[in-house]
Amino acid sequence: MHALDIIQEEHRNLWRIAITMDWVADSLQNGEQVEEGFFVALFDYIQEFMDGCHHAKEDQYLFLAMRRRSPEAAVILDRLEAEHRDSPQLLQALRGFLGQGPRALTGNAEFIDALRHYADTLKQHIRHEEKDAFPLAREILQPDDWAGITAAFSDHHDPLFGKQARAEYRELYHRIVSLAPEAIGLGGRSAGGFAHLSSSSGAPQPLLKVDGLESCYGRIKALKGVSMEIFKGELVALVGANGAGKTTFLRTLSGIQPMSAGKIRFGGRDLSRVRSDRRVKAGICHSPEGRQVFGPLSIEDNLKLGAYLRPPEQLDEDLERVYAMFPVLHEKRQLPAGTLSGGQQQMLAISRALMGRPRLLLLDEPSMGLAPLLVEEVFNVIRTLKNQGMTILLVEQNAFAALGIADRAYVLETGNIVLTGTGQEMANNEQVRAAYLGM
Ligand SMILES: Nc1ncnc2c1ncn2[C@@H]1O[C@H](COP(=O)(O)OP(=O)(O)OP(=O)(O)O)[C@@H](O)[C@H]1O
Ligand SMILES: [Mg+2]
Repeated sequence: MHALDIIQEEHRNLWRIAITMDWVADSLQNGEQVEEGFFVALFDYIQEFMDGCHHAKEDQYLFLAMRRRSPEAAVILDRLEAEHRDSPQLLQALRGFLGQGPRALTGNAEFIDALRHYADTLKQHIRHEEKDAFPLAREILQPDDWAGITAAFSDHHDPLFGKQARAEYRELYHRIVSLAPEAIGLGGRSAGGFAHLSSSSGAPQPLLKVDGLESCYGRIKALKGVSMEIFKGELVALVGANGAGKTTFLRTLSGIQPMSAGKIRFGGRDLSRVRSDRRVKAGICHSPEGRQVFGPLSIEDNLKLGAYLRPPEQLDEDLERVYAMFPVLHEKRQLPAGTLSGGQQQMLAISRALMGRPRLLLLDEPSMGLAPLLVEEVFNVIRTLKNQGMTILLVEQNAFAALGIADRAYVLETGNIVLTGTGQEMANNEQVRAAYLGM
């Protein structure tokens, strides 16, 4: 990758940081509370990577080479370098507001202004650099200049956005990707811990065993004898084209859609003739296609509905667990669910299912209709749940991403399972690649 491409990519990420700062400033102004840990991670990252690495290397390599090639460069670069020098001081001033608890930040006009000012300065700086410095660099720098600069930038390890992102920046990353490119926030993070909810005896008995399942809409048979096994702790993907019967399969497992033949065993029990509410009670919790949150109800009430069959004394604990995973839902808990963005509604739909303390979580197309960064975020959440030991059946049209995280997968074609194997095998399978991965 060429140095300028690397720098521009880093700018895009810094721009997201600026947008995140603006957004958080708005939240604080609206009287919301934001944890200090978020700011600490944000400021640490800026200090470590933006000031310590990105700016430093621009000064040492790109700007230095430009100054060598052309005296004209000084006019532009003096200002940019001065901004680089000022940044740590501005950041230090921001840090000065921390340490007095998160309440001290809510509605604190001085801090909010300082945040906004920092974000504006950062955006202006990036604009200035790309508009003025880069065109000049392209004009005056020679191939051997570029080789040196590219080498210097190529060994960057961005601890937030890079391939080897570090754990302490994980929550910050969730916040930022969920804000960009559009101003919508999922705010998912890897806290919460659902692991202890699904026991892991390691017994070889499948948790779910479906045999010859059939289901019809009138005379149309949508499922023609589907069999599937899911073991505890597995993430199983069900992929297939439009109308293959994926949703029908999940709805039949949940008991919302009647079955006309076959058997569903769950946790050693035959659930084939058991009502849908009893199946939820047994631990089959469903996040439906199209999210289907109750728009006029508050976010918290939507979550409580997911816990309808749970012992009331555990409600607070379960709410806390969900809120720890999705702080944004906590921040907005009193608002009508309809005010949430599509991505946030998806998180709410998943959270509502989690409120039932699933032993098996059914997810129907959780990434549908979301912007690419949010799709990535949804898959991060699913991966986190899996790592916590949750057993998941994931229905996805985004077969590529689903196979990438699944332990095993099934391919459904017009009501029949036509292929099954590990996620990896399926992703490498010629037939699957041709039909679903567009390769
Ligand atoms: N309510 C319904 N009434 C009649 N037919 C239906 C109904 N819902 C689904 N079908 C039909 O059943 C078949 C399976 O549909 P289903 O929604 O389960 O597929 P899917 O794999 O989930 O598709 P998609 O990827 O579009 O969500 C399709 O032929 C569909 O037209
Ligand atoms: Mg469907």
